[in-house]
Amino acid sequence: MNYYIGADLGTSALKLLLLDREGTIVNTVTKAYDVHYPNPGWSEQNPEDWWNALVSGIKELIADVDAKNIRGLSTAGQMHGLVVLDKDDAVIRPTILWNDGRTWQETEYLNTVIGKETLSDRTANIAFAGFTAPKILWMKNNEKENFDKIEKIMLPKDFITYRLTGQHVTDYSDASGMLLLDVKNKCWSKEMIEVCGITETMLPKLLESYDSMPISKEAAALLGLPEDCLIAAGTGDNAGAAIGTGTIGEGKCNISLGTSGTIFIASENFSVDSNNALHSFCHSDGGYHLMACMLSAASCNKWFCGEILKTDDYKTEEAAITPDKLGNNHVFFLPYLMGERSPINDTDARGLFIGMRPDTTRADMLQAVLEGVAFAARDNLEIAKALGIDIQKSTVCGGGAKSPLWREILCNILGIDLEVPACEEGPGFGVGMLAMVACGEYASLNECAEKLVKKKEVIHPDPETKERYNQQYEKFKKIYPSLKELYKNLI
Ligand code: XUL
Repeated sequence: MNYYIGADLGTSALKLLLLDREGTIVNTVTKAYDVHYPNPGWSEQNPEDWWNALVSGIKELIADVDAKNIRGLSTAGQMHGLVVLDKDDAVIRPTILWNDGRTWQETEYLNTVIGKETLSDRTANIAFAGFTAPKILWMKNNEKENFDKIEKIMLPKDFITYRLTGQHVTDYSDASGMLLLDVKNKCWSKEMIEVCGITETMLPKLLESYDSMPISKEAAALLGLPEDCLIAAGTGDNAGAAIGTGTIGEGKCNISLGTSGTIFIASENFSVDSNNALHSFCHSDGGYHLMACMLSAASCNKWFCGEILKTDDYKTEEAAITPDKLGNNHVFFLPYLMGERSPINDTDARGLFIGMRPDTTRADMLQAVLEGVAFAARDNLEIAKALGIDIQKSTVCGGGAKSPLWREILCNILGIDLEVPACEEGPGFGVGMLAMVACGEYASLNECAEKLVKKKEVIHPDPETKERYNQQYEKFKKIYPSLKELYKNLI
């Protein structure tokens, strides 16, 4: 029996899946690590923590199987993070993560001085604070000494691939979020490299996600993996989740409720949103996709339950939110705990509860949190609709989508059918599939997806609940615009 490892390098943890060729999950291991918030709106992680999690995690993962049957491994990673190595391959500084807002000045410089139109012509995207190029500029402007030491620039999952293979590579899909890739032509943008004051030699070699390379002898020995194990280039976590939920081909949609929330719309052909509110990226199936990204999704629920209610018993908390309450809440919540990317692109925005009364309960407030994330997703769905993209159904995945209540709220607020895949481990499952294709277990990703991706359940909006939520959404969408100016002076 051949086995494959799918590694999902998330923001809160590394999740490892051991799969067989039928897609059966033979074992899973999760290794949590910390996010550091050295200043308000900043977020960082130490790449060595990711590597240590992988080393200890893989040993546990494969303890009960014959390791010589492990054919391939691939990693899906949190996107956009800036990993910088010096001439000795040492990490120069902690990675600045995808949800870090410190680069607002560099982002503004790119969008106004270089100009949104020029950026969009060169890369198919405009600058967002979380993207990689503004982070490189931030280092240049604020940490010149560190900046001058840079020999290699890579994304989080590419650091893992580098340690596993000694090869400095990335894939087109994850590279799209750097604002350094000419997405349409799938090559580095020489102009953007110059804008950032770096050289092309610092950037990884570009591969398709299912291209592969051998594991190094040292890594094989350290991890207990066979020397003929192949490492596929892998992808960003959202494209990984898309593969893992079968979101391959024209017009298919996947919504992920992880630490971030994303709406991922696959497309066979390249296209750009004329307002650049949606990201235009390569997909890891060889095609393209449009994507909206909310910086805080399941993290809002984790924050509210953990920090405020002091519980991790989500089920008991949610039990108090009975069906008659859906669409009738008097409390609203803005989910912008880390600022927001899509669609408002505002690093100053923050979370907010509004509408509380003396009879407001903790259940009302929790409901507002779940609804606020779903309303913010609706803001993005409306943008896609305005572009003429007709989304009638979507798959859902991510930690938040494990809650039947949250799925029901999302389904009714978006007013579309939601398909729940049998395997909830979107990105890990997706890169497990990439590893299988890389090793020739399946002839194509399509063939692999047809065989492995199964549906568990489809949920439909309830007409009355949906209508009540339509009315609630009219209120929700007025809250942020009336606070936008106030937020500028809040921090
Ligand atoms: C996507 C994005 C997030 C991270 C989360 O653009 O920034 O979804 O990939 O890990």
